Amino acid sequence: MPDKNANLTVAGRSASLPLVEGSQGPSCIDITNLYRETGHFTFDPGFGATGSCKSAITFIDGEKGVLLYRGYPIEQLAQKSNFLEVAYLLLEGELPNAAQFTEFEHAITHHTMMHESVKNFLHGFHYDAHPMAMLCASIASLSAFYHDTANPNDPEQRKLAAIRLIAKMPTIAAAAYRYSIGWPFRYPRNNLEYVTRFLHMMFEVPSEPLQLNPVVAEALDLLFILHADHEQNASTSTVRLVGSTGANAYASIAAGIAALWGPAHGGANEAVLKMLTEIGDAKHVDKAIARAKDKESGFRLMGFGHRVYKNFDPRAQIIRAKCHEVLDALGVNDPLLEVALKLEEVALKDDYFIEHKLYPNVDFYSGIIYKALKIPTEMFTVMFAIARTAGWIAHWIEQHEMPGGRIFRPRQVYVGATPRDYRAIDKRP
Ligand code: CMC
Repeated sequence: MPDKNANLTVAGRSASLPLVEGSQGPSCIDITNLYRETGHFTFDPGFGATGSCKSAITFIDGEKGVLLYRGYPIEQLAQKSNFLEVAYLLLEGELPNAAQFTEFEHAITHHTMMHESVKNFLHGFHYDAHPMAMLCASIASLSAFYHDTANPNDPEQRKLAAIRLIAKMPTIAAAAYRYSIGWPFRYPRNNLEYVTRFLHMMFEVPSEPLQLNPVVAEALDLLFILHADHEQNASTSTVRLVGSTGANAYASIAAGIAALWGPAHGGANEAVLKMLTEIGDAKHVDKAIARAKDKESGFRLMGFGHRVYKNFDPRAQIIRAKCHEVLDALGVNDPLLEVALKLEEVALKDDYFIEHKLYPNVDFYSGIIYKALKIPTEMFTVMFAIARTAGWIAHWIEQHEMPGGRIFRPRQVYVGATPRDYRAIDKRP
């Protein structure tokens, strides 16, 4: 029988570290007792070899390009499901039956209004505030409005906070956009389904009804499904870290929004579009590739590379196919698509990108679809946040339900000054 422990001896002290097996994927070495038994910590900046928790929500096999939500392949969910059903799946662990779905949709639909005071809060921003800044602050502010869901240790309160967050995120996101262009806020229309309701809040003007091409809602729903969860990525880990302190759901999710904003994470979709616009023409692609390979330039190909996927990102493959379909259906002829296709073609044949296992990720094509749907560039990461809210809150709930939760508190390798004596100001060099 294979040894179920990893045995480690360091500086004459030994530890027998148990292996932890999941239902799929490589086993992990449980180092909980490592410091106690050997006097050593582990060092893993960026957490590339560290499992921070047990989770039953999402599984990724980065070598094989596999992504499962609660065991269901992303390809099947993308083809057959819808975002709200996927949100239910992430939260509850099972696909809903018809009655469960109706109840869930009803609950979400009837929590879409934002507190009127949140409107005043939004009005306090300068007109050119980035919508991610407005979203992050407004979601954090919800904890000031909904005291009845402030206790993370109460399962009913946790559930209601989840419903409120999934329901209100599109309302606040659309309001942030409308504020930036000086349009009046639109109230949510409860006769519409989730994504269509959001599009109405974004684009409907008071003076005339909105004519919405169903292709737009369908494409956005697909993008929301693909972005709904991705196990312990930077923003989800942030939500869990903040959640581990006992912070309420709104504060924890606001922290996730802040983490998502960075260009190495969810901000990449906005950065991709800016990069493609800067490249401007397929004939400049070679120059961009050369710059991305030059470490001195500080430039990376946005929308390329992933910490976990080393072969392909299954979400990128689905989006790539959808991109052509959506642009054709909407009659959009976007020259940036040509630049993107050329960039992908050249990079995939380039030794640097092959050796570094850098492939287009989910954000590479999503921006081109968002642009075709007339979503403004500054709103791209907000779109990601709306979708990822389902995953964030599912993880936040799971962390409270799973026994043995502790505050996240990593250690460090200290490289600063060794002990020294304080000197009066006139005695300092
Ligand atoms: N362009 C050029 N070189 C790259 C790129 C890139 N996009 N990504 C990684 N590399 C190189 C990097 O310079 C390093 O080279 P070397 O080993 O020679 O020093 C090597 O590949 C490994 O890079 P890393 O930064 O250690 O990899 P990581 O796993 O820490 O970072 C990443 C992953 C996604 C942050 C990174 O690939 C990146 O910055 N990509 C561009 C931003 C992006 O598209 N982000 C979206 C990620 S997917 C959606 C999401 O998470 O929100």
